Amino acid sequence: MFGGHMVGARRLGGAQARGRACSGGRSYTRPKPARMRLPMARCFVTRVLPGPALDRLRDRHEVDVWPDRLPPPYQELAARAAGVEGLLTTLTDRVDAALLEHCPDLRVISNYAVGYDNIDLHAAAGRGIVVGNTPDVLTEATADLTFALLLAAARKLPEAIESVREGDWLTWEPGRYLGQAVAGATLGIVGLGRIGTAVAQRALGFEMTVLYTGGGQGSEAVRRVSFDTLLEESDFVTLHCPLTAATYHLFDADALRRMRSSAILINTARGPIIDQEALRDALLAGEIAGAALDVTEPEPLPPDDPLLSTPNLIVVPHIGSATRVAREDMADLAVENLLAGLDGRPLPHQVGVAV
Ligand code: GLV
Ligand code: GLV
Repeated sequence: MFGGHMVGARRLGGAQARGRACSGGRSYTRPKPARMRLPMARCFVTRVLPGPALDRLRDRHEVDVWPDRLPPPYQELAARAAGVEGLLTTLTDRVDAALLEHCPDLRVISNYAVGYDNIDLHAAAGRGIVVGNTPDVLTEATADLTFALLLAAARKLPEAIESVREGDWLTWEPGRYLGQAVAGATLGIVGLGRIGTAVAQRALGFEMTVLYTGGGQGSEAVRRVSFDTLLEESDFVTLHCPLTAATYHLFDADALRRMRSSAILINTARGPIIDQEALRDALLAGEIAGAALDVTEPEPLPPDDPLLSTPNLIVVPHIGSATRVAREDMADLAVENLLAGLDGRPLPHQVGVAV
């Protein structure tokens, strides 16, 4: 599809060039056509990205890259975005209506993430700004991390690793570190999109029974159930839905109470889908057996957040897509989205809302 648009754009360019050359019908010595070069745009990129993709952007446009480990503070982002046509953001950059109000030239926002809850799509659409994201290329990496967390929580890896470090490996013990069986257990998937489906494939390899609820199209191997049935029947529950008004705090005290007391909850989607205070209470009360989170509310989670002293809880710092290949492919796609938007071509991956 992307290739098709490129060809179309080139053809149009050729026709225009011919039209100009023939206009007036006079014969003249046509100047050797300079390499067709679309105008340069100004871009702000909020973080250094892995791989060579940003060089391709620099080849075409004037590019300002924020060099720090920490993202630009909101005011700095707003100030820099105010003077550019193209913005390449990450999920830590909040692009809201107030910021967009001061960006008269902005034409395209390319988000280096599959999720785009950090961007006010309505405000962008209202200003004719197109928004792109980076799906597909991070699906397998995120599904792998989901399974890593599921296995780590099920088999109590953090405690086991810690006990070896602390000199507490005294002998082989029949009754210690007893975890839960993963093979043959029931997995409940909330949101059977690309990532949810990739997690289901892994689960079927573990001969798990797979249930799902929410968006997505299942196959015969997975069973669609109501949210309540998923909570009641699952040994593991994993979240792969986007963060929206409908999924905000979907896992509240009531939902957690309806899960099995032996169940483990995994979240590699967005932190605010879980009410963390309710999660802490549920873990302390033994209403569920464990949780493993790649995403939290807020991010980063402060080191003194009470969640971190909760038993049977694993927290990792939002690393779902953190493989070299995924992050470089995301950079390629984010740059392709930005280049396309600046050229006025359809984005390879555009997200949007009806206005
Ligand atoms: C990561 O969370 C992403 O949305 O890509
Ligand atoms: C969700 O983020 C998906 O890609 O399915």
